[in-house]
Amino acid sequence: MSETPRLPVPTWFVGCGNMGQAIVAGWRSAGIDLSSAAVIRPSGQPVEGVRTVASFAEAGPQPRLVILAVKPQKLAEVAEQLRPWLTSKAVMVSLLAGVELATLRTHFPRAAAIVRAMPNLGVAIRRGVIALVSGDADDALRLQLSTIFAPLGFAPWMADEGKFAAVGAVAGAGPAYVARFVEALTKAGEQRGLSHAIASTIALETVLGTAWMAATTGEDMESVARRVASPKGTTEAGLAVLDRDQVLDALLAAAIDAASRRGGELAEEAKSASLAADAQLS
Ligand SMILES: NC(=O)c1ccc[n+]([C@@H]2O[C@H](COP(=O)([O-])OP(=O)(O)OC[C@H]3O[C@@H](n4cnc5c(N)ncnc54)[C@H](OP(=O)(O)O)[C@@H]3O)[C@@H](O)[C@H]2O)c1
Repeated sequence: MSETPRLPVPTWFVGCGNMGQAIVAGWRSAGIDLSSAAVIRPSGQPVEGVRTVASFAEAGPQPRLVILAVKPQKLAEVAEQLRPWLTSKAVMVSLLAGVELATLRTHFPRAAAIVRAMPNLGVAIRRGVIALVSGDADDALRLQLSTIFAPLGFAPWMADEGKFAAVGAVAGAGPAYVARFVEALTKAGEQRGLSHAIASTIALETVLGTAWMAATTGEDMESVARRVASPKGTTEAGLAVLDRDQVLDALLAAAIDAASRRGGELAEEAKSASLAADAQLS
């Protein structure tokens, strides 16, 4: 029987909104002990299952692991408040979209290691994807972080930040794209006379059932589509529309390109903010 993984003591969540709480929910449902962890968020609004405080001064002993879960635009401000509480033993795990390792290092020069993690909201139900990348985590730390993130879903280490960004573009933002697809399927059902309640349940269950079936059997999507579409049948007529000029592929590629461009802009903004902060310090 495998043991429940343990978080480094203490672990701090710096910021705990949508994504921080999704991770907390996943860890709680995996039975991970959060009794020594602390959430620091300005509102002090309680996060179920974790001691929550409104300031670093109330957080208790200095952290061994920090999960940085604020908006990228807040990095410079939060880093300035957080730095005095960090020792050279603290490992920083940043969830900040688009903010590169080099930029994080300028904000946290003393940290033992800097790791970027890109989760998606599925971590709350332990079916997430959490890409990991680091330039300075050693094998022992990689193993430790794999052990604590694996209960949240698929947690691969990526070779470089380019590949990490690619996983983020597909999986980090992916739940939003899948949500739109389910809505579009719902609207199509409504246009055929179904009530919203029935159409949305059917759309959701169809996406869930298809994904679950493929995830549990390993069947590829081309084969799933072939099994539904009999030659010259109704599904084949529908697929011919979706497949015409690879319109669906092109649409998703364009959406992901736009998200990647925005990721590049956020990285540049974070770099400029950190250069400005450096200039103020010097
Ligand atoms: N949402 C996603 O699906 C997703 C996916 C991948 C990565 N991410 C990344 O995860 C990060 C968080 O995103 P989110 O969607 O969870 O944002 P969010 O819901 O807006 O949460 C942001 C958190 O930051 C806290 N905060 C603001 N100023 C702070 C300060 N000075 N010190 C400490 N905490 C502070 C807020 O506290 P209060 O609650 O008290 O206001 C809030 O808890 C972002 O960097 C994003 O790029 C998000």
